[in-house]
Amino acid sequence: TLTQAEKAAVVTIWAKVATQADAIGAESLERLFFSHPQTKTYFPHFDLSQGSAQLRGHGSKVMNAVGEAVKHIDNIRGALAKLSELHAYILRVDPVNFKLLSHCILCSVAARYPSDFTPEVHAAWDKFLASVSSVLTEKYR
Ligand code: HEM
Repeated sequence: TLTQAEKAAVVTIWAKVATQADAIGAESLERLFFSHPQTKTYFPHFDLSQGSAQLRGHGSKVMNAVGEAVKHIDNIRGALAKLSELHAYILRVDPVNFKLLSHCILCSVAARYPSDFTPEVHAAWDKFLASVSSVLTEKYR
């Protein structure tokens, strides 16, 4: 679980990220598909070319969900319950992919806000994304 200081760091960096959430979401997916092409197999029905409408639309949905988790940082499990069932029971995304996407989101945020991305913010944001991922993968067990 995140400490109070870590929660505060997440909320602070999110205030910036939220203003460009759609672009950051699309960039994170681009990084995911480019660095880890095997992840594209979950999206056979998508046009995954750079800047495609589907890529941008999906990036926006993903970041929206991340924003919900920030808003409910003390109850991420409750906030993402439906998404957790979707990823586990319907989509059956292999949990390893959550680490890959989290890393890509981390990179996109770091690249956009280098001076805000202190070691403390880095650590807090990383831990927060790990919590989101663990909620989204816990139904598999
Ligand atoms: C769908 C969020 C990780 C594959 C979705 C949706 C959201 C979401 C909000 C849309 C749900 C809806 O339409 O009701 C997230 C978040 C993640 C994450 C917050 C982690 C931070 C992943 C990973 C993969 C994945 C790692 C696979 C590499 C999919 C697929 C869909 C989906 C295939 C359905 C797309 C469609 O047909 O529209 N996700 N997701 N997700 N997600 Fe995730």
